[in-house]
Amino acid sequence: MLQERIPDPSKLVEPDRVRKEVYTDAQLFDLEMARIHETVWIYVGHESQVPRSGDYYTAQVGRQPMILVRGSDGKVNVLYNRCPHRGNMICGDTKGNTGEFFRCSYHAWTFQHDGRLKNIPMMESGYQGTRLERANARDNPDCNMKRAARVESYRGFVFASLAKDGPTLKEFLGPAIVAFDDMCDRAPDGEVEIVPNCFRVIQHSNWKLFMENQIDALHPSVTHQSTGRAAHEVEKQLAKKAKKGEVPLSYHMLSAFATVTIDKWDNFQTINYPYGHCILTGYMGLRPQDPDTLAYDKIMIKKYGKQRFEEIIGVNIHHVLVYPGLSVQSPLQQLRAVRPLGVDRTLTEIWHFRLKGAPEAIYRRSLAYYNLVNSPATMINADDLENFWKCHQGLSTDGGDWVSFARHHGRDVEKNGVVESGPNMGTSEAPMRNQMKAWARYMSAAAGATR
Ligand code: FES
Ligand SMILES: [Fe+2]
Repeated sequence: MLQERIPDPSKLVEPDRVRKEVYTDAQLFDLEMARIHETVWIYVGHESQVPRSGDYYTAQVGRQPMILVRGSDGKVNVLYNRCPHRGNMICGDTKGNTGEFFRCSYHAWTFQHDGRLKNIPMMESGYQGTRLERANARDNPDCNMKRAARVESYRGFVFASLAKDGPTLKEFLGPAIVAFDDMCDRAPDGEVEIVPNCFRVIQHSNWKLFMENQIDALHPSVTHQSTGRAAHEVEKQLAKKAKKGEVPLSYHMLSAFATVTIDKWDNFQTINYPYGHCILTGYMGLRPQDPDTLAYDKIMIKKYGKQRFEEIIGVNIHHVLVYPGLSVQSPLQQLRAVRPLGVDRTLTEIWHFRLKGAPEAIYRRSLAYYNLVNSPATMINADDLENFWKCHQGLSTDGGDWVSFARHHGRDVEKNGVVESGPNMGTSEAPMRNQMKAWARYMSAAAGATR
């Protein structure tokens, strides 16, 4: 029994280190799914994934398979993917269009897009006098597909919480909401559109290793050094022959992993918020003066005016982490959603977005970053995945009991609950400390008792 072995999981976390069981204990994983992922706001999908009535997309929230579906009233619903009759999954496919209603493939019960029962075949003859008789069935929650307790959308990004009480989405996101504003504001039309479909990667490691790595400014110039150097060599050779601005920007996306050395990463800043969210500042020199960028700038200035344009384009963000399941690189319209499958299995969905109203070349840039840095085919992602697997393997041994987050511990600057890494300490492990602080709060025996 977990309760006997670990009466209070929050005790596994110290300010600068964490016990290895936090990553490897299967029962602890179940508890964190219940207390964290199935309680807080989790990103389900983007409204543009389901543009028409009946369009649906499935996604995992904690351990619960959910359906994002557009109703005929235009509203987006999030439902448990489960038939109330005998439990059959309603949608076996990842995505599709269900038509005017859902129809269970087992015994043909049908449901509206908001989950309410539409019909049970031979309802009168089969169920009269039972708890499911016609008079009651449509009002009976036992006959409806269950809805997520709360659903909210911000600028097209749909989140669900499976707990009926808790902060609103805006309260939960706090300043991390900038991830979505920054992404959408960069579109001349003020909106983004998801690019169907995504890469899906299953990594053989705990979900927290992925989340920690997203804002680990210490690792890129080590883990990705060989890829960065190779790209930098080619970039230099091309630069010798090409006129200024003619070396494809995609080389820079990779070479930055070698040219932005550890000391340069220290110039950036991590800003850590309650609930475990974090912003890493610093934009990887991706505001070039090539013709494509200049054409985009012109459209944006026409739309927003010079001053607002400079504000939009000057937002200093490299990465936003929305704990516990989302990593957003808003300047390049990249989003990765974490779907934990088990203590040592984690699915990541890797998405990218199109800025509405922007020239095609700007979309191509986002696509290039998606393919070169975030896709499973690139060496960048592969190098990270190897580390995740090796970390999980190492943590599963008896070779040690602790994971250290001591880098620059004690030098963080805290103001009103917001923790910034100290000056010139961008490689601080403050984001990991902050995530674990949030984890401990969610997981504490006291928090469990009040649920
Ligand atoms: S399980 Fe769905 S109709 Fe029977
Ligand atoms: Fe990495």
